[in-house]
Amino acid sequence: MNQRLFVFDTTLRDGEQSPGVRLSLDQKLEIGHQLVRLGVDIIEAGFPISSPGDFESVNTLARELKGVTICGLTRARQKDIEVAAEALAPAERRRIHTGLGVSQNHLDNKLRMTKEQALETGVNAVKCARQFTDDIEYFMEDSGRADRDYVYKVVEEVIKAGATTINVPDTTGYAYPDEYRDLMAGILNNVPNADKAILSCHCHNDLGMATANTVAGVMGGARQVEVTINGIGERAGNTALEEVVMALYVRRDVLDIATRIDTTQLLATSRLVSQLTGMLVQRNKAVVGANAYAHSSGIHQDGVLKERSTYEIIDPSLVGAAKSEIILTARSGRHGLKHRLQELGYEFTPERFEQIYSKFLEMADTLSEVGDEHLRELVAI
Ligand code: KIV
Ligand code: ZN
Repeated sequence: MNQRLFVFDTTLRDGEQSPGVRLSLDQKLEIGHQLVRLGVDIIEAGFPISSPGDFESVNTLARELKGVTICGLTRARQKDIEVAAEALAPAERRRIHTGLGVSQNHLDNKLRMTKEQALETGVNAVKCARQFTDDIEYFMEDSGRADRDYVYKVVEEVIKAGATTINVPDTTGYAYPDEYRDLMAGILNNVPNADKAILSCHCHNDLGMATANTVAGVMGGARQVEVTINGIGERAGNTALEEVVMALYVRRDVLDIATRIDTTQLLATSRLVSQLTGMLVQRNKAVVGANAYAHSSGIHQDGVLKERSTYEIIDPSLVGAAKSEIILTARSGRHGLKHRLQELGYEFTPERFEQIYSKFLEMADTLSEVGDEHLRELVAI
């Protein structure tokens, strides 16, 4: 029996923090409904105290969305927690996500607190949140650069105070995968009450390692991943939901772990978020990019046409994409050209096909892609 991995989607909170992105209430609701269809376990709907608009969105999503836990972010302050609790009140299931920094950098430069003061503040925040819900997630901001022994101490004390999920953010995207895996394993092995909570991965992509770090964190024992659709978020973004889900699914031979995600909704969700946020998805983006199932070189096309798995590890229908695409370019070979011509209803003698192929190569040298209309021109010559 595989183990369950919880998916915590923060597209509407950390994702919406992407520079230049502003979603209206209706847009957030539309994305929220799609995230429910996708099958995420927890939706972080916003940071209620940050603005009246954020309060309203968290409150509306809490009222409207069913079958999912709605979460609100807070600082480790009583007022933030009270406001979040009020916004979350109508939810079927509600979670308060509170916490503060643990790295020396954050303690000295941002919080201006000693370790002891920060620990006490965090513990009090958890106790305060417990008055409103027993589902409390505690974030230790900048864990990726923090002193391990202090992290262990914080985890132990906030679990004692009532935290049920411990978020271990690599806030600045600094960690290497083996370090992040080791951090999770270190918490599980060194904190006596660590088994009383779920550890959560929250990685940023500053060095392009967010997905690798998240998967490594799961290997280290985390059982929740915090992700955004298309990896949108602060600076270089967060971990992309679709990448982690498919990495764990495709390589389920490595980790016997499963999410509740309906992968056939991945492409539709990616497109919706891209359209509503205005953040384009790069063509070569893993899993959901326009080129993710497109083959352009002759060698690859020949392989895929003989057997899809030669160059594809994901069946496109698994993510809701129609099928693999053969893109005709100057690098394409006879097999790819013949395949497309047959799809368009053409059959030629070998001699005639050779003529068409030479003309095709001449044309392809002048174009980035030879489309169907070009092929029709070619066969008419
Ligand atoms: O990156 C981070 O540390 C965060 C926390 C607020 C959870 O987004
Ligand atoms: Zn973050």
